[in-house]
Amino acid sequence: MTRILAIESSCDETSAAVVRCEGACGPDRHGDPVAESVVILSQDVHRIFGGVVPELASRAHLTALPDVIDQALAQAGTTLEGIDGIAVTQGPGLVGALLVGAMYGKGLAWTLGKPLIGVHHMEGHLFAAALEDRELKPPFVGLLVSGGHTQLLDVPAWGRYRIVGATKDDAAGEAFDKVGTLLGLPYPGGPRIEKLAKEGKGGRWKFPRPMLGELGRGGPDEYAFSFSGLKTALLRAVQGSKDLDADRADLCRDFQDAVIEVLVEKSLHLADRLSYRTILLGGGVACNQTLIGRLRERAGDGIRVVAATPRLNQDNAAMIGAAGAWRLAQGERSDWNIEPRADLPMPGLVA
Ligand code: KG4
Ligand code: ZN
Repeated sequence: MTRILAIESSCDETSAAVVRCEGACGPDRHGDPVAESVVILSQDVHRIFGGVVPELASRAHLTALPDVIDQALAQAGTTLEGIDGIAVTQGPGLVGALLVGAMYGKGLAWTLGKPLIGVHHMEGHLFAAALEDRELKPPFVGLLVSGGHTQLLDVPAWGRYRIVGATKDDAAGEAFDKVGTLLGLPYPGGPRIEKLAKEGKGGRWKFPRPMLGELGRGGPDEYAFSFSGLKTALLRAVQGSKDLDADRADLCRDFQDAVIEVLVEKSLHLADRLSYRTILLGGGVACNQTLIGRLRERAGDGIRVVAATPRLNQDNAAMIGAAGAWRLAQGERSDWNIEPRADLPMPGLVA
């Protein structure tokens, strides 16, 4: 058994967790990670500005991190001496924000003489569901949808990833947030749009389904995404609205339906093409229960749709601990000169 202290600070959540691995780790085994504690402090300061202010994020991480780590250890009923290794988010993300968590973790690991592992944030999002789903096994299709990324992955084994599709412009979460701003909703827009969409009636606006027409053509953009045109279409609708207060919920509904349809159809098409029977959803947008529900509905009985609970799909350190524990179990260690990178490439990419 190994017990990992994990730190996540890539954006505007300061998070620490203690993760214990109970099972075997390997290409088809995620190690049965258990979150003994997860502490997530969402930085409220950015709400005033309608988006994340990088410098403020770094400062807030620096102030909060020691207490967040203490709480994570206390909730897990352990101390630094009871930890076998330390996992930190190495990237991608805001470089100043990453620097705070990565350097703090490095300092702790050095002082304690414990191994350190730098984790790719998106690999963390992939491992989040492993914290709750003992049956989750590759091969599967991974749909990672967050504020910074939209990726459709072929995952033949843990640690081996083929990026089949990605966004050409805005990430799905970014589109939700920008549309939220256009609709006069507070940041972040995603959760508010989902809530309002439930009260809205669909079909008043015929928003485009960007790049959906590429499916089945076998071209380079078959599994690509693009959300900026959809955002512009919504802007036009807002400009044309005579009573935005009356139209807001319906606009949320039609916008969300368009995003969901593209994500669902491309994921299912890829699963079908690869003859995979599992689709894993991860990232902040996978907190959207309407997306999960719609995918399950369309997938039917033939395909299992796996998604973590929202607490583990938003940015959190437990997912970093799960991925880090798996990598440490493969014998990997990060050098003491590890540096965070805003554009860190995903490890284990296969062509
Ligand atoms: O993964 P995440 O917490 O941070 C990044 O790594 O970017 O994702 C944050 C994104 C934000 O854009 C937020 O609006 C979106 O996830 N999000 C949602 C929902 N909850 C969070 N989008 C749609 N529906 C939701 N319920
Ligand atoms: Zn994230």
